[in-house]
Amino acid sequence: MKRKNIDHSQKNYLMNKNKIYHPVLKSIIHLLVFIFIHSNLFAQKQEIIKPGEIWPDADGNHIQAHGGGIIKIENTYFWYGEQRAEGLDPTLRYVSCYASQDLINWKFRGNVIKMLPPDTLKSGWVLERPKVFYNAKTKKYVMYFHIDDKHYKVAQVGIAVCNKPDGEFEYVRRFRPLGHESRDIGQFIDDDGTAYLVFEDRPFGFRIARLSDDYMDVEKEMSLISAPLEGGAIVHYKGLYYSIGSALTGWTPNANKYATATSLEGPWTEFKDIAPPETNTYGSQSTMLIKVVGTKKTTIIFMADMWKPKTQFDSRYLWMPLEIGEGKLWLPKPQPWKLNVKTGEVSILDKK
Ligand code: GAL
Repeated sequence: MKRKNIDHSQKNYLMNKNKIYHPVLKSIIHLLVFIFIHSNLFAQKQEIIKPGEIWPDADGNHIQAHGGGIIKIENTYFWYGEQRAEGLDPTLRYVSCYASQDLINWKFRGNVIKMLPPDTLKSGWVLERPKVFYNAKTKKYVMYFHIDDKHYKVAQVGIAVCNKPDGEFEYVRRFRPLGHESRDIGQFIDDDGTAYLVFEDRPFGFRIARLSDDYMDVEKEMSLISAPLEGGAIVHYKGLYYSIGSALTGWTPNANKYATATSLEGPWTEFKDIAPPETNTYGSQSTMLIKVVGTKKTTIIFMADMWKPKTQFDSRYLWMPLEIGEGKLWLPKPQPWKLNVKTGEVSILDKK
């Protein structure tokens, strides 16, 4: 047999060869195992949005993006929100960023804000409802958030900016938009790209105001809706503006309402219930309306928080496609559902 013919020098060569390659092979195996553990290549793709349930990100952790807002940059959606995971440094306030191509599977891109209280704010300060706008002229990502003291008496917006959607945002300043009190904020980007801030001005109501060209200021008031509403969200759908707001009941859910107008300057109709009022919006509070313009259909998603004030890290999300059109808007009973972001089509599962 061939093997018998191997002489000593060949034998030594083979032994050395094994010695040389063995550690290399070992490192390769270690590397592959590391990649396997840390990559999402093998993570299970989710296909169903399940309102009210734990929503795992690509690493398997419940998404922490409460009171959030979403923007789309090319084919990627970015979801920013309050990071309320357990075990964070209580002196800091965090804003998380997640990315997705399909609005269902989200990859955590990091905490884009990790902030100590700025200037004179003291411990117990509040940073809530972050919303990010992308300014195509300055190529900057501009974040607005509600900033406050622990008694919610400061009532201001804060601004932070970044050159990337998921970089470290730099805090710029805080102020009262157009000199008014501002607590809950919402964001709205119209079909022509104009950016607006919705904010709750406790003594007067619900304000909608246009941002300046560079988005670094709130420039022009469009509407003051004299209604005690917060959690403001707006969508422009088939020639009508629909605005949604919740009543002022803190973390406790209430019956969210909507009104419509042909112009952001109003006049706005009376506010009507978006769901059977006794359900208190199925235990949720509005934060945003997402418009998915597909090749076959345009779908409007109601994006809301189901707060758990004592265990905020476990607060859930209620996302449902709305029944909307001709001045009417209705939130169907929450059910698991599927979305095709390309076509805009949805299918509600287990419809009862
Ligand atoms: C809610 C508001 C939340 C948070 C909470 C504090 O009314 O929507 O964002 O500020 O009050 O109690």
